[in-house]
Amino acid sequence: MKVAVLGAAGGIGQALSLLLKTQLPAGSDLSLYDVAPVVPGVAVDLSHIPTAVNVAGFGRDDLDAALSNADIVLIPAGMPRKPGMDRADLFNVNAGIIKTLAEGIVANCPKALVGIITNPVNGTVPIVAEVFKKAGTYDKNRVFGITTLDVIRSEAFVAELKGLNVADVKVPVIGGHSGTTILPLLSQVEGASFTDEEVAALTPRIQNAGTEVVNAKAGGGSATLSMGAAAARFCMSLVKGLQGEDVVDYAYVEVQDGDAPYFAHPVRLGKGGVEEILSYGELSAFEQKAKDDMLETLNKDIQEGVDFMAN
Ligand code: NAD
Ligand code: LMR
Repeated sequence: MKVAVLGAAGGIGQALSLLLKTQLPAGSDLSLYDVAPVVPGVAVDLSHIPTAVNVAGFGRDDLDAALSNADIVLIPAGMPRKPGMDRADLFNVNAGIIKTLAEGIVANCPKALVGIITNPVNGTVPIVAEVFKKAGTYDKNRVFGITTLDVIRSEAFVAELKGLNVADVKVPVIGGHSGTTILPLLSQVEGASFTDEEVAALTPRIQNAGTEVVNAKAGGGSATLSMGAAAARFCMSLVKGLQGEDVVDYAYVEVQDGDAPYFAHPVRLGKGGVEEILSYGELSAFEQKAKDDMLETLNKDIQEGVDFMAN
């Protein structure tokens, strides 16, 4: 198993790489790529942790070597938000970065499972898909927007509100990854019920949790540690799928005849990535309205990514 992290010297990249060094199966290769000159040092630092995961660092000119024959590629490269910015404000800077990295995947590991963290996820996932389509290597089952942070935040907030053991809490989150496009399905949480007031307060808390971190970091960036944990958790779901285990997780994927061309769903994972896109089940009236109301925004975000590649 070879896992490449692109943007490995950043806030998310370092936290994620640390967790993967301790969680990937014995004998795996962890390949760390970044344009920041510190990346070989990050690799040396991690290599001193005694686990049977091999770590190598690759600088700006070594993208090909970093990606060569990777099974999984995780992309947290790019600029994070500062207070007052929306994720959409990152599009102009991050679209070009994502395009370049996707072209590297085409050239070096076109069959890899690709997990995209770089914001705005609603638009960067379509960019990667369009790069792959242009090269003739696109397989919609292998491209994922990582929305696990919305899931783990929902678990944490629900457990806190209801006094539950967080290990037992499961919260489906569908849609996209920004503002109102993030839709937690509180009506489907087993073992907890919510008043209308609780739903009306908790839903926007989950939707704005990224901004809560951005404001608390006061110009120092956005969520890195929780995102590192989220991406490691999603990566381990991909790994289990590749190993033949039956695993279901949530991700933003291409959906045919769905609510939007890309939409976060529960997906069954396997050796080829997405084996099956599962239904998200019945929505409450509140959730149905929230979904109907956000689709215009989500579709616009997706189109921005598609148009970037068309132009
Ligand atoms: P950061 O600035 O700490 O790290 C970004 C890293 O990307 C830096 O090390 C930088 O050198 C590197 N980089 C820039 N251009 C590159 C390129 N062309 N190739 C390789 N590496 C490159 O930022 P961060 O806090 O780690 O956030 C990274 C991205 O993840 C941001 O876009 C942020 O908005 C996004 N994010 C997404 C989620 C999510 O839930 N999907 C959560 C948090 C942050
Ligand atoms: C998050 O949800 O924390 C990330 O998307 C980063 C951000 O800009 O909010």
